[in-house]
Amino acid sequence: MGVYQAVYRLALRRLPPEAAHAAGFWLIRFAAAVPFGAWVLRRFLAPRDPALRVRALGLDFPGPLGLAAGFDKDGHGVAGLAALGFGFVEVGTVTARPQPGNAKPRMFRFAAERALVNRMGFNNAGAAALAARLRAVRGPRPVVGVNIGKTKVVPGDGAVADYVTSARLVADVADYVVVNVSSPNTPGLRDLQAADKLRPLLLAVRAALDEASPRRRVPLLVKIAPDLADADIDAVADLALDLGLDGIIATNTTISRDGLRDSAAVADAGPGGMSGAPLRGRALEVLRRLHARTGDRLVLIAAGGISSADDARERLAAGATLLQAYTAFIYEGPLWPHRVQTELAGRLRDDPDAATAHSGCGPG
Ligand SMILES: Cc1cc2nc3c(=O)[nH]c(=O)nc-3n(C[C@H](O)[C@H](O)[C@H](O)COP(=O)(O)O)c2cc1C
Repeated sequence: MGVYQAVYRLALRRLPPEAAHAAGFWLIRFAAAVPFGAWVLRRFLAPRDPALRVRALGLDFPGPLGLAAGFDKDGHGVAGLAALGFGFVEVGTVTARPQPGNAKPRMFRFAAERALVNRMGFNNAGAAALAARLRAVRGPRPVVGVNIGKTKVVPGDGAVADYVTSARLVADVADYVVVNVSSPNTPGLRDLQAADKLRPLLLAVRAALDEASPRRRVPLLVKIAPDLADADIDAVADLALDLGLDGIIATNTTISRDGLRDSAAVADAGPGGMSGAPLRGRALEVLRRLHARTGDRLVLIAAGGISSADDARERLAAGATLLQAYTAFIYEGPLWPHRVQTELAGRLRDDPDAATAHSGCGPG
């Protein structure tokens, strides 16, 4: 372990998880805001190896590894995060109305297993505030996806209208939009993954995006849970193809606790979604199933337990066009995205199979 990692881990352990997140994120934004800060970070850390470039969703990504939703819910730091080496940043989940999320503590570390359990509950300042902030970004803007979810107090029968409100608000600032129906922390949300509920929801969001952004077709994706039964994964894949969706993000966090050894700590943490290394196997399985079903007709974005260049390469070989991570970034620190993308570039050059899967990146 290098000095940088030792210091980072020591600092991380001393703060409660949500405070560590806030402090780390503040530092990233500060570094990017000082004169030439973002330029220096970009110069040394942003992906620039041509082997990493991806063309997908009608967009150019400098590298396939992006930051998963939930880290920058309100779009405060997209420039700084991309400057650290992420090829794109997904902001949100935002909801139509601002909401505080669940009571704290709501994020728990399982450091031995490189996992987190969270029940944040979509704490966010609302879709309108996010849109205003993204509109105000100055300087080079990275590819930014916007992930939308349901406002907690809105009852189930108002879900479609709630998502539609968010979609309208973010249409002109989002490079792509993700309908999140897979967080375990909003009661009833994951029921929207059932095809009979998902179809009208996605149709309505598609129509709202087209109406709000008539000149540019905003790519639309859906993000699914790893806890879906195989038949339900197939049903979502078929529906996505049927509706002409652009892609699927697999996966969100899991309600399973498999792989966490400290059962007392698991009980103390309580309900929520688990992310990180223990999710890796199931997330890979879901990706493989989706790819077998859809081939290259959809852009598949792999998330869940990606923590190394080998993991990244494995997901690309399994059919992913793009990748996302959150938990490994928390454990490994701000230099991690640069390290993974750099190592991945080497792997893609050395391994023609991975490079082939990688360049076959679905609808351009
Ligand atoms: C603290 C925390 C908050 C999250 N919030 C969101 C969210 O708001 N929306 C969402 O779609 N996913 C959210 N996620 C899920 C991640 O985007 C990602 O799908 C999941 O953590 C698996 O990737 P990982 O193992 O690399 O963390 C969150 C994850 C964590 C750890």
